[in-house]
Amino acid sequence: MHLLNQLTTSFQQLFQADPLLICSPGRVNLIGEHTDYNEGFVLPAAIDKAIYLAVGPRTDHELHVVAHDLNKTFQGSLAHLEPTHTWADYILGVVAQMRLAGYDFPGFNCIFSGTIPMGAGLSSSAALENGVGFALNELFGLGLDRIDLLKLSQRAENEFVGAKVGIMDMFASMMGKADNVIKLDCRSLEYTYAPLQMDGISIVLCDSQVKHSLVTSEYNTRRAECEAGVRFLQTFYPEIKSLRDVTMEMLDQHLRDTEPLIYRRCAYVVQENARLLAGVEALEANDIAAFGQLMYGSHEGLSKNYEVSCPELDILVDIARTHPGVFGARMMGGGFGGCTINLVREEALDSFTELITKQYKAQTAKDTYLHVCKIQNGTGIIKNQ
Ligand code: GLA
Repeated sequence: MHLLNQLTTSFQQLFQADPLLICSPGRVNLIGEHTDYNEGFVLPAAIDKAIYLAVGPRTDHELHVVAHDLNKTFQGSLAHLEPTHTWADYILGVVAQMRLAGYDFPGFNCIFSGTIPMGAGLSSSAALENGVGFALNELFGLGLDRIDLLKLSQRAENEFVGAKVGIMDMFASMMGKADNVIKLDCRSLEYTYAPLQMDGISIVLCDSQVKHSLVTSEYNTRRAECEAGVRFLQTFYPEIKSLRDVTMEMLDQHLRDTEPLIYRRCAYVVQENARLLAGVEALEANDIAAFGQLMYGSHEGLSKNYEVSCPELDILVDIARTHPGVFGARMMGGGFGGCTINLVREEALDSFTELITKQYKAQTAKDTYLHVCKIQNGTGIIKNQ
């Protein structure tokens, strides 16, 4: 509330008007990593860490934006939207994509702030993009629905920012539902909500405090490796469109001996989709122990076969494994840094925190920060306080 009051007061002082307030959350993903751009399944949820935006209309075809936490300002004309290679691109990209899609509006003011730790892999960029799209849709009655808006966010990131990310982050942030995970089919965008019945168990994020510069280039390389695998298999099976259509038998028969690296990448994706489907069944049966084992399997695959982990993330998972109150742990998101996600018994939270903080420091000389998260609704208006 303190933060919202600050945003409102700053907005009133700067723009002499009352703002519309929007909350746009970050996300976690329980299992199903690097599957979204392979037309597979993911199991994300929106969390109680968010970007908060105060917005209002202008009439001079300009946008004036203040990044409250960075103490930075951007001002520009709607007619000239060029990438700046700064935080402003997440906003400009959404505006540019809206205009390209034929939606027009006369300018806006925005001040934003947030509680999503930066660079921790919790999708602060998707949250910001969704927040801006949602705000403009509300302010100017553009008539877009949530699916339109999250697709705009993805295009902003792909085309304007230049990161070839999949749909998961925007989808989770926009479509999240309190106390539910989203089972999303990234091929059809069909989705179902599954209530997370984990009484007495917390979702704990351990921040490795590592942010590798590799992430964008290696992310794009993994995409290309998966596409290469698909192209190779299409010579034998022309009906295949993505790794979603591929089985382990196909990979074993045609790729294992000839293309060992591509084989490992593709095998990880095929196995991760299978783990997700098994994971959904385990959650339905309230078998958190089985779900936890699948999380460890996911981490192993991401680390050894997909090679998107890093020593610090591996260490965090290895330490978590030794604690009897932990059901499962794995790296989360794109990789090369950011957070691990852990399912931890509530009564073990203190001893888990102590163990992982001490051991991580001893093994890496770095500090880890723990966040216990709650599952919240997706992007939306904050009603009058
Ligand atoms: C990043 C991307 C997502 C997804 C994950 C890996 O978070 O933005 O689209 O590919 O990595 O699962």
